[in-house]
Amino acid sequence: MLKVGFVGWRGMVGSVLMQRMGEENDFAGIEPTFFSTSQAGRPGPDIGVAVPPLEDAFDIEALKSLDVIVTCQGGDYTKEIYPRLRQAGFDGYWIDAASTLRMDDRAVIVLDPVNRQVIDESLDRGVKTYVGGNCTVSLALMGLGGLFEAGLVEWMTSMTYQAASGAGAQNMRELLAQMQGLSGAVAGELADPASAILDIDRKVTAAMRDGSLPTERFGAPLAGSLLPWIDSRLDNGQSKEEWKGGVETNKILGLAQGTIPVDGLCVRIGAMRCHAQAFTIKLKADVPLDEIEARIGEHNQWVSVVPNDKPETLAQLTPAAVTGTLQVPVGRLRKLAMGAEYLCAFSVGDQLLWGAAEPLRRMLTILRE
Ligand code: HSE
Repeated sequence: MLKVGFVGWRGMVGSVLMQRMGEENDFAGIEPTFFSTSQAGRPGPDIGVAVPPLEDAFDIEALKSLDVIVTCQGGDYTKEIYPRLRQAGFDGYWIDAASTLRMDDRAVIVLDPVNRQVIDESLDRGVKTYVGGNCTVSLALMGLGGLFEAGLVEWMTSMTYQAASGAGAQNMRELLAQMQGLSGAVAGELADPASAILDIDRKVTAAMRDGSLPTERFGAPLAGSLLPWIDSRLDNGQSKEEWKGGVETNKILGLAQGTIPVDGLCVRIGAMRCHAQAFTIKLKADVPLDEIEARIGEHNQWVSVVPNDKPETLAQLTPAAVTGTLQVPVGRLRKLAMGAEYLCAFSVGDQLLWGAAEPLRRMLTILRE
C-alpha cells in the first residue's frame, strides 16, 4: 500500500480534498499520515480509518519515508521544503496545489481528463513532481477540451469573472462582510417600498467610498463593484494570473510555449467559489456549430453544453447553479460578428473542485493504478 502524507489538509483546498477523498472512498487503498506545521503529536483527523498522530510537516526524515506527499499547504511551504527534501534524497511523488513548481521543467501540471497522455508519458519517464494547474486554466480546459483535442484552436482570449475563494477563505468572509455593510447602510430604506431608489444608491455608493467596508484582504470594495486586477503586475503589463493562462495551457497540453496564444483580462467579482470565463476562440477553420457543440459536450463526463437561450442559461450557466458540483457547463456558443472562424463561449466551474482539489485527488488515484 502506498504510504501517503498529507500536508495542509485543514485549509480550504485541503478540506475540499479531504471531503472528495472521503466521498470516493480514496483512503481505503492507502496508508495515510497527516502532517501539521503546528500541532504535531495531536490525534489525526477522523477519516473512517485509523491514522497515526499528526507528524511534524518540517520533519524531513518523516517526509522522506513516504511514497507520496500531497500538499495544499501553500507556496511558502513548497519553496522551503521541496528543495530540502529532494536534496535529502526523497525520491517519492510530490503532488502539490501551489503554483511554485508549475512551470518547473521537473514538474507536470495535472488535469487528467485533458492531459492523461502527458501524465502517463511523464510517469514512464520517471517524473515525480505533479502540480495542480491555475483554477481558471484548469476550468477552461475542462470546458473546451474537445476543441483543443481536435486541434481546432488557433488562439483564444479568456475574460474571467473570478470568485472570492480564489483569493482565499478570508476573502470570502470579507466579501460577505462588505455585502452586509452595503445592505446595512440602507436597511431602513429597503424596508420601505416607497423610498427613492436614488437615495438608496447614493447611500450605497457613499458606503463603498467612505472607508467603512472591510477591505484588508481585497484592497478595495468588491461587493457592488468588481476588481479588474488579480495577482501581481508583470513587466509587459499582464497580471500574473493572465500570464498563467497562456503558459499553463500550453504546458498542460504538452505543447511548446506559445504554440497556442491564450491571453485576456482577469477580473475578480463577487461570486463565492465559482469562476466564470467568457472566451473568444479563433478557430483554425469554419467548423459548424453543431460539430463544435458535439466536440465540447463529448470530451469528458463533467462538461455539458447549455443551449444558447436565456432560460437555460440562467438556470444552468451561473455560479449559483454550479457551485459545489463537478459540473463544467459551457454555453453562449455562437459565431461572432468578426467571422465564421470566431467562436464565443462562456463557462462556469467550481474553482475549489476542478480548479484545485480534484486534479490532485485524481493524480493520487492514478499512482495507485
Ligand atoms: N489565482 C486564482 C484566483 C486561484 O485568484 O482566483 C488559484 O488558482
